[in-house]
Amino acid sequence: MSEVLKILDGALKANASMAGNYAGLLADKLERSGEREDALRIRDRLARAPSAMAFAQDGSRMATAVPTDTESRLETVDVSYPQFQGNGFHLSSAAARRVQEFIGSVSNYDRFAAAGVASVNRLFLYGPPGTGKTMTARWIASELALPLATVRCDTLISSLLGQTSRNLRRVFDFAEQTPCVLLLDEFDALASARGNERDVGELQRIVIALLQNIDALPGHAIVVAATNFAQGIDPAVWRRFPFQISFAVPDASLREALWKTMLGGFCPASLHWDELVSFSEGISGAVIEQVCQDAIRTAIMAGQSEADAAEILRRLGLAISLLNGQHLPSIEDEVRWLRQWRGEAFSLRELAKLYAVSTRQISNMLRGPNAGKTASKATKRSGKPR
Ligand SMILES: Nc1ncnc2c1ncn2[C@@H]1O[C@H](COP(=O)(O)OP(=O)(O)OP(=O)(O)O)[C@@H](O)[C@H]1O
Ligand SMILES: [Mg+2]
Repeated sequence: MSEVLKILDGALKANASMAGNYAGLLADKLERSGEREDALRIRDRLARAPSAMAFAQDGSRMATAVPTDTESRLETVDVSYPQFQGNGFHLSSAAARRVQEFIGSVSNYDRFAAAGVASVNRLFLYGPPGTGKTMTARWIASELALPLATVRCDTLISSLLGQTSRNLRRVFDFAEQTPCVLLLDEFDALASARGNERDVGELQRIVIALLQNIDALPGHAIVVAATNFAQGIDPAVWRRFPFQISFAVPDASLREALWKTMLGGFCPASLHWDELVSFSEGISGAVIEQVCQDAIRTAIMAGQSEADAAEILRRLGLAISLLNGQHLPSIEDEVRWLRQWRGEAFSLRELAKLYAVSTRQISNMLRGPNAGKTASKATKRSGKPR
């Protein structure tokens, strides 16, 4: 019913692309529920429409032009069609449940509205970097079989005074006319009330324009906002989002699941899971993914079919040093850091193997900065920087 109403809205506003977009979505839904004939009839009609609209007939395209910033000519929205396969996506049980609740609420919006208990389809995701917020938005779009329209806040905030509000208007017009999940990513860039060098008056105007646009959107339009600076968000913005999910760095069981998934077939048989899970406490899913990919690449380069357990720990140690703001410009620094970080996991022999030098050279490196020359010679000889 909500598609029929949107098609009607499009017709009443003489907005052919809006009607076309929702007709395409209706055809998709009919097809998925087994009503092929009706889906075909709709697509057939769309195919006879003017060329711009005919796009909507395959349901995976949209007829409405993507909005652009007049000044830079850059598109302010990225449209993608996320598709998730397998089970590579892990959330804490509370977050997973809340995401399901949101999907349930969106899917049953019409039924809830008829009973007078619908809440607007707005979801706010917040938490530290790399914990899966953007990924969750992609997953939601994939579950709802809708395109994901990601707002590029960098191009949206125009250097021209006043242009930002116009850009916002266009984005929300687009979201109204197009069946999609609208993702306002890095939302803080738009919605932090104060606190950067830009004119405070203009920022307040942006916040007001944002609130007006959110309010003007029909309740069934799906908006997801994501940020890692929840503190800076204006309280008036929070109120517009009845669904909120807090993301945190993964706990032990989630870390184990992430390591297993991300190492996949390259998982070394000799890996001590308890060690890896405990050493990676406090790090995000994004860092785990990066460490796994680095270790897998190293294995592929060495012609091995599984990643090396010590190499995974080494990569993890180096990633943690970076997160601590500690830079390790030389191999000697790396070796010293790894010993200091988890001496029990990095014996002299293990380090010698990892860096392709002798245990004596590792002892020299550990003894002090003056021993650095030996290592650089060794590195030159082995031809390997690491
Ligand atoms: N819970 C998770 N399950 C699976 N993959 C994850 C998870 N958390 C992070 N990742 C991986 O980390 C990468 C970054 O995740 P994502 O972009 O969703 O983080 P984010 O929370 O949006 O970060 P930021 O705040 O920096 O934008 C993704 O490519 C994803 O593969
Ligand atoms: Mg993100």
